[in-house]
Amino acid sequence: MTTVFVIDDEREMVDLIALGLKKRGFTMGTFGSGAEALAAIPARDVDVIVTDLNMKGMTGLEVCQKVVADRPDIPVIVLTAFGSFETAVGAIRAGAYDFVTKPVEVEALAIAVRRAAEHRSLRGEVRRLREVVANTRGRGDLIGASPAMQQVYELIDQVSATDATVLLTGESGTGKEAVAREIHNRSRRSAGPFVSVNCAAVPEALLEAELFGQAKGAAVAGGANGGAGDGKQGRPGLFQQAAGGTVFLDEIGDMALALQPKLLRALQERKARPVGGDAEVPIDVRLVAATNRDLEEMVEAKLFREDLYYRIHVIHIPLPPVRARGGDVVQLAQHFVKHHAAVFDKKVTGLSAVAAERMMAYDWPGNVRELGNCIERAVALTRFEEIQVDDLPEKIRTSRRPGAMSGPMSGTDITELLTLEEVERRHVVRVLEACDRNRTDAAKMLGLDRKTLYRKLLRWGVTDA
Ligand SMILES: Nc1ncnc2c1ncn2[C@@H]1O[C@H](COP(=O)(O)OP(=O)(O)OP(=O)(O)O)[C@@H](O)[C@H]1O
Ligand SMILES: [Mg+2]
Repeated sequence: MTTVFVIDDEREMVDLIALGLKKRGFTMGTFGSGAEALAAIPARDVDVIVTDLNMKGMTGLEVCQKVVADRPDIPVIVLTAFGSFETAVGAIRAGAYDFVTKPVEVEALAIAVRRAAEHRSLRGEVRRLREVVANTRGRGDLIGASPAMQQVYELIDQVSATDATVLLTGESGTGKEAVAREIHNRSRRSAGPFVSVNCAAVPEALLEAELFGQAKGAAVAGGANGGAGDGKQGRPGLFQQAAGGTVFLDEIGDMALALQPKLLRALQERKARPVGGDAEVPIDVRLVAATNRDLEEMVEAKLFREDLYYRIHVIHIPLPPVRARGGDVVQLAQHFVKHHAAVFDKKVTGLSAVAAERMMAYDWPGNVRELGNCIERAVALTRFEEIQVDDLPEKIRTSRRPGAMSGPMSGTDITELLTLEEVERRHVVRVLEACDRNRTDAAKMLGLDRKTLYRKLLRWGVTDA
């Protein structure tokens, strides 16, 4: 149902138009002035506004300008005196969608209104589709729209607005660092630095100075050099360098027990003492920590301090492994194809259906990182615009994860020379599965009668499908 507002300070005009449009199925709102109509817009779902140009008080042009400024989604049609082409052009310039000349022929006006309403709904549709596309791409730099990733995005949204400490867990390559960056980018600290430290990569003796700095003249335990400097100058730690921003502590499970109380103190009291110094320095960072170890188990085994564990466990975002992300595999692959095709300056645009199917069936122990590497290699190798099964590593080519999608195109793999009957069998089973194993529906979809389908299934020994 299309709702139309008509504005004219001549009562008879308004009534005439309203009557004519009502007869043609429109829902009408009638107004004697622009101000009244504008006031009524928020309360009603207006699709199109029809306004006279010359009115006492607010002119039709002003109505146009107001609507364009406040509600650009509502098209305005202006009524202009016959022959006053200049005025009509002026109205269009002011943002009117269309004009109709007076004396008004209701049929012509109805056509213009219908067209305007259609334009409006198309614009709404385009906007909606854009939103859908934006949502399926993922969040920020993160790719993936699976339910498992939607949960991650929700948590990212929730924590981004706060300064709370976040713990990211997940298998290697699931995107812990990528998520940490996304949290930073979405937070009010985004203009500040993002500093990343891998606790497992910095020698134990140096980590304290690395994190909290080193006072002038202090020597770092273990004869520090390189990483922490010689101590003569004194230098700020990463927590200080990241002031106003975010510190990402990767592999926090590898932090020495002896250093853990100091980190706890830095988080709780927001200050820390540089190595060899007396004065404390203030700390203004958000901490995002990550690990692929089981911290709870480590706490039980007294390998990780319980108090620190609770402190960093305030908000926990578990990252799902790629094998739990369904169709994200294909989205991620497409994303990496685009990236590496640009890097190699090669015209590769996607994956063949069979290649995509094999990737879905593989279980990706190295997760997103492994997937990225696999695509990089495939883009480098392939001689086609679409990556083929042969461009994939052996273990993916031959993957047949039980329970994984059997693949819509599994009967058409050019590398598999199947008999027609085998292609038929696979296709029938697939359709059956798509129909929740309802044989009547499947038969209908396959264009077979039920008896024929039964006979085929019997021959193939597909009895429980
Ligand atoms: N959802 C995603 N969308 C796009 N790229 C991603 C996504 N997740 C991870 N990546 C990319 O995959 C690679 C590995 O991710 P990252 O280094 O964040 O994983 P990690 O969990 O920190 O791994 P590790 O445990 O080995 O340190 C990076 O290049 C990252 O940019
Ligand atoms: Mg990492």
